[in-house]
Amino acid sequence: MTMKRKIIMDCDPGVDDAVALAFAAAHQEAFELLAITTVSGNQSIEKVTRNALNLVDFYKLDIPVARGMAEPITRVPVYAERTHGETGLGHCVLPVSSRCAEEEHAVMYLRNILSALPGNEKITLVATGPLTNLAMLLKLFPEVKGKIREIVFMGGAACGGNITPCAEFNSYTDPEAAKIVFHSGVPLVMCGLDATMKCTLTRRQVAKLCQSGDKVAKACGDMAGFSLENTSSKYRGEISIHDVVPYMYLIHPEIFTVKPAILDVDCSEGISRGATLCDFRWWKHEEGELDSFVLMDADKSKFQEYLITALYELGEALYGKKEGLDQ
Ligand code: RIB
Ligand code: CA
Repeated sequence: MTMKRKIIMDCDPGVDDAVALAFAAAHQEAFELLAITTVSGNQSIEKVTRNALNLVDFYKLDIPVARGMAEPITRVPVYAERTHGETGLGHCVLPVSSRCAEEEHAVMYLRNILSALPGNEKITLVATGPLTNLAMLLKLFPEVKGKIREIVFMGGAACGGNITPCAEFNSYTDPEAAKIVFHSGVPLVMCGLDATMKCTLTRRQVAKLCQSGDKVAKACGDMAGFSLENTSSKYRGEISIHDVVPYMYLIHPEIFTVKPAILDVDCSEGISRGATLCDFRWWKHEEGELDSFVLMDADKSKFQEYLITALYELGEALYGKKEGLDQ
């Protein structure tokens, strides 16, 4: 029997973070979800933490939520209200959880959970927001690096951008944090736009989710529909569900093309702020240096099939099968 992968989700829910949590919750045969840590990104730390608490209840997960950094390390917050809405979850209204966030700050929570790991046990940190929490953890408590199996994160791009022509939102929001993580020596998998721009749901797929009687599928469809119709993605007719990709990679690596690369990031104030640089010249680096990888491509139809199946399966398992308009 293969051991479950211990995971902590660092996120800024956020529409696609919320769908990613559903996908992770649908794969508890593979993931031992230990905790969620929140970070300012798509919305304020208050809103993303409230969303995380409500999502944990909605997906019937019994895991702690620890509130993290309220701002990037040096920059002012850049919220993504057009994509994620005033609440951070579009127009989707979830029941309000009675849970509270942990007393400890997320960075301390991460340090304590990592430090307490017995023996050779390690945790995979999956980050789907700006890397502020993880950067602070690695700078303040470098001794925990040996307890991190790898950091699999949604961010950056070998080519292109979304918030600017050459920068992706998470790396743009906190480039200094990204630089700290990139130079930390912790094994990395960058799930950047090169792959996530192919990891989409079409307008038709979103509409069917919205019309379904499945509570999880409908909620995720409503959230994705908000991002689809309120951004220029409406002209694409599909919306990238960026944050599902790290989890999809851990479950179905075979649908991705992966290349080793040394990562860096532009911390200037100029037009290339937050641009991630991928050095694919493996022959110029020592063997041990090459412990960072970039997803360069993805199988769109497989991504869509696995994601949609997972959403319906989770909803049916949690709330039963109900008739909807899509029957
Ligand atoms: O660029 C996409 C990323 O920025 C996703 O993580 C999305 O949630 C936003 O945080
Ligand atoms: Ca996110």
